Amino acid sequence: MAKTVVITGISGTLGSALGKTYQQRGARVVGVTRQTDFQGEGYDELLVSPQQTQEDAAKLFSYDPDVAILNAGQIESAVGEQGLPLLELVESMNRINYTWPAIVALEAAKLKRDRPLDVVAIGSIADGSPSCFGPVYHSGKIALHYYWSGVGPIVYYASDKMIRLRLYRPGVIAGPLAWAPVNRLNEKAYQIRANRVNGAPAGEQVAEKIAQWIETSPQWVGTYDEPLSFKLFKYLFALFPNQFYRLQLLGWPKGSKFVGSPKP
Ligand SMILES: NC(=O)c1ccc[n+]([C@@H]2O[C@H](COP(=O)([O-])OP(=O)(O)OC[C@H]3O[C@@H](n4cnc5c(N)ncnc54)[C@H](OP(=O)(O)O)[C@@H]3O)[C@@H](O)[C@H]2O)c1
Repeated sequence: MAKTVVITGISGTLGSALGKTYQQRGARVVGVTRQTDFQGEGYDELLVSPQQTQEDAAKLFSYDPDVAILNAGQIESAVGEQGLPLLELVESMNRINYTWPAIVALEAAKLKRDRPLDVVAIGSIADGSPSCFGPVYHSGKIALHYYWSGVGPIVYYASDKMIRLRLYRPGVIAGPLAWAPVNRLNEKAYQIRANRVNGAPAGEQVAEKIAQWIETSPQWVGTYDEPLSFKLFKYLFALFPNQFYRLQLLGWPKGSKFVGSPKP
């Protein structure tokens, strides 16, 4: 059972739920946020951190955690003209969804551990195939997945099997982040998304499942319920990349609110 757990993105839907879950299990929870004046629930100690540099990463491990959950993540909350990604968001999302976890993994690898450490990155079931409706998010999450599967084994053996980089891929969770991808959708596509979001499990339910998985599962990659459509797209992308691209070219004018609207 983990004694100390560090959780980034503690102010968010899943972060605060994870914090409360671990507190109920008797762990000391160190919550991480960028906000200097944050007051919330689900943590015993708060670390205010921009989550950017090697030094920021080293601070996470100064609490000597048994588990570090890299849960902070960002989605495209706004899009530019014609649905193009905004540069500022591309930079900030790539940092928190991919580059920051990659830096933390390297910092973890420097530790001399005499007891196990799990560094669990929170990915997404959306990482299996890119879509024009959430391209920056999907890119960051698949990069994270690649990095964890590629660098994880190196870190594991370099640390004499003490440090495990593990990945958990949640599905949609009830909350504001789940609604963000609607900003490129036309009305018809919006309804499809709305049906998924309205049926989404609460953060508490997902957090409980993740904590259980971290504590008891031998898996390296855990996945919350993955709809069949996500699986099919994933296989299609991997096996037939050109056809998959063509499908996106067909899908964008059908589902987006930008095609057909006059150029500014
Ligand atoms: N919600 C879903 O449907 C869903 C589905 C699959 C996967 N996930 C993943 O689950 C994790 C948590 O999601 P959530 O729904 O709890 O999201 P959330 O409510 O938006 O919380 C995410 C937290 O991450 C921090 N954050 C956001 N952008 C950041 C940045 N650029 N730099 C540093 N910190 C940043 C924020 O904390 P501060 O402002 O306090 O720093 C924020 O409260 C994310 O990794 C997300 O991708 C979510």
